[in-house]
Order: sequence, then C-alpha cells, then structure tokens
Amino acid sequence: MNRPTIRGWGMYVPERVLTNAELETLVDTTDEWITSRTGIKQRHIAAPGETTSSMGLQAARRALERAELTPADIDLVIVGTATPDYQFPATACLIQDALGVTGGAFDLEAGCTSFMYGLSLASALVSSGMQRNVLVIGSETLSRILDWNDRATCVLFGDGAGAVVVSAGQYAEFDPQYVLGSDGSGAQALCLPAGGSRLPARAETVRDRLHFVRMAGPEVYRFATRVVGEATQQVLAKAGLHPSDVDLFIPHQANTRIIDAAVRRLSMREDRVFINIDRYGNTSSASIPIALCEAEERGLLEPGSRVLMVGFGAGLTWAAGIMQFACHLAPRRQEALVGAGQSVL
Ligand code: ACO
Repeated sequence: MNRPTIRGWGMYVPERVLTNAELETLVDTTDEWITSRTGIKQRHIAAPGETTSSMGLQAARRALERAELTPADIDLVIVGTATPDYQFPATACLIQDALGVTGGAFDLEAGCTSFMYGLSLASALVSSGMQRNVLVIGSETLSRILDWNDRATCVLFGDGAGAVVVSAGQYAEFDPQYVLGSDGSGAQALCLPAGGSRLPARAETVRDRLHFVRMAGPEVYRFATRVVGEATQQVLAKAGLHPSDVDLFIPHQANTRIIDAAVRRLSMREDRVFINIDRYGNTSSASIPIALCEAEERGLLEPGSRVLMVGFGAGLTWAAGIMQFACHLAPRRQEALVGAGQSVL
C-alpha cells in the first residue's frame, strides 16, 4: 500500500528580523495599520549572500534528517517558488546538487500555491508507486522583488523556506485528497510585470520599477476569502470528512482577516487553526511548510494527525489538501484501533 504521508519536515528562516517599528522609519506606515489589517508584527529578511536555493537547502537537510533518510533515498526534488535563484536553471537542480541527490529535480510556479501544487504531485507520484520519496520545498526570497518604497506591498511579505519528505505511510488511514484551482483572468491582480518574455529586462523597465511585485490588494483579498472556504469544503467532501475530523488546519499565512473569515464560514474550532503570520509575514510558498514545522514543534501534531492545508496566490491559483502526518510511525490512534481488534492495514 502506497498511501502518502509527510515523513520528514524542516524549515529555515534568515536571522535578520524586520519589525513593524523599523518599517515605520522606511515608509509611511504604522505598526497599528499593519497589525490591524494583516496580523503581521515582524518578518525575516535574507542576508545579502542568502538565496532561495541556500534557504531551501537548509530546510531540506532538516527534513531529510527528520525523515531518517539519506539523499540517496530521494527520487525527486520539487521546489515551489516565485523567486528562483535564476530564470533558469531550476532552483531545484541547485538544491539537488548541493544535497547529493541523484534523482530528478524541477521548479514549479503557482504563486503562493506552489508548495500545495508540489505536495499534490508528490502524493500522486508516491501513491502510484512511481517514486518512493519525494522532497517538496517551498522557498522564497521575496525581499528581493519588493518595492521598498511601496507601503501597500513591502509590509506584507517575508523570506524563508520549508520542506517536507513525502513517502508511503504504512499506517495511513486514508488516501490524501487535493483540490486544485486556477483563474488566469485574475493574472494582473498579483504580478511581477517585467523580466519575462512579455516585457524583457531593459533600462526602462528598471526605471519604471516593473521588476517589483504589483498587487491589487482588495481584489486579492476578495478572491482569497472566497476560495479558502470553497476549496476547504470541496476537499473535505472529497475525503468524506467533516471539519471536526481535522486535527489541524494550516491555511496560507497571508492575512489573519482572510483566515478568520474562512474559519467562521467553516465553523472550524479555533484551537485547531494554526497561525504564525505575526512573526513571519507572508512567505508565499514557504508559509505552509514553515507553519507545519512550527505546529509540530509546539506539540500540535502527532503521528496520524489529519492536516488540512489551503494555499492561494498569484495566477490566480488555489489548492486545498488533506493528508496524514508521520504515518510511517505507528500512531497512538491506530494502536488503539488494533487493540480493539480492528484492522488498520
Ligand atoms: N500603511 C498605512 N496605510 C496603508 C498601507 C500601509 N502599509 N498600505 C496601504 N495603505 C493605505 C492605502 O493607501 C489606502 O489609503 P487611502 O484610503 O487614503 O487611499 C488605505 O490604506 C486602504 O488601502 P486598501 O488597499 O483598501 O487596504 P485594505 O483594507 O484592503 O488592506 C491589504 C490592504 C492588507 C493588502 C488587503 O487588501 C489584503 O490583505 N489583501 C490581500 C493581500 C494578500 O493576501 N496578498 C497575498 C495573497 S497571494 C500571496 O500570498 C502572494
């Protein structure tokens, strides 16, 4: 049986912390505005020598250690990122080489939803038996593509990386389920205008500040509050589960108001919703794996826990997934079932 599970997890954030108080000295903003509109109090910013691959590598090493696997066990490296080291080659190849993995490697770009798209793909590959262990990394150096003169965007984002190893879980109770969505008619709502084939880098694109994130905040806000609730309901229905069956809900950490609206709509228990945006800001594709690591560290996850994750972002894209945590280890819940004479395999 090849039911995928999250077998290893790791995160990395740069040392440098940028607080709202410091931002007050850079742009016309206040701690009160940022906190009340977003829930963010501080974010981490990459040091000059740090990149998406160097942060992703640190997170990946920790995930491998946690999974008790070696690089030789990894068949595929998927990196979800909107801020790759280069346009090409893929950041995943740089990490694969530094780790000493000999399997395949590629990047996947679905805005802030990249990690969730990667996780769904990894689950399918493990489920089919095509791959045994897939490393999925979300890593972002958003500070390099922010306009530090634009108060509407620069206060929202942070840098960091998270990684998981997806492997078959002997004790998993159900097959993971995913719902993926995209609405390209909203492409311009969240966009990095220049540097691609449509608008290649030129002196004018630099002059016009087109190599920085552009976002129509209210439009993205309306989209996000709608899709988080809808995608969550759809994935629960697909898995045949109720919100009360979920042990931990990890939404993309973009804005506490978006999360609160979704939680109200879903009647989800608040103590089962994980939020850490206050300390990291929006780290895009790294936000869900970072939250997963922190949740485990705080004792909120144990083998067999059912984790529901929802991402959304540029594209516009969204994805919801539910899968079990650390089911390569015998979870207490299943030990209890075995004790009661029920088969779990
Ligand atoms: N400090 C102070 N004032 C600000 C700031 C700031 N940092 N930024 C904007 N303002 C001002 C605006 O200029 C505007 O002033 P005006 O009324 O005088 O013109 C006022 O605040 C309100 O601006 P809005 O954009 O309408 O503010 P809103 O209440 O919508 O909040 C926010 C803005 C927080 C960006 C919200 O729209 C939002 O969260 N949108 C979703 C963003 C998001 O989730 N993005 C990421 C999703 S995908 C991904 O993760 C990549």
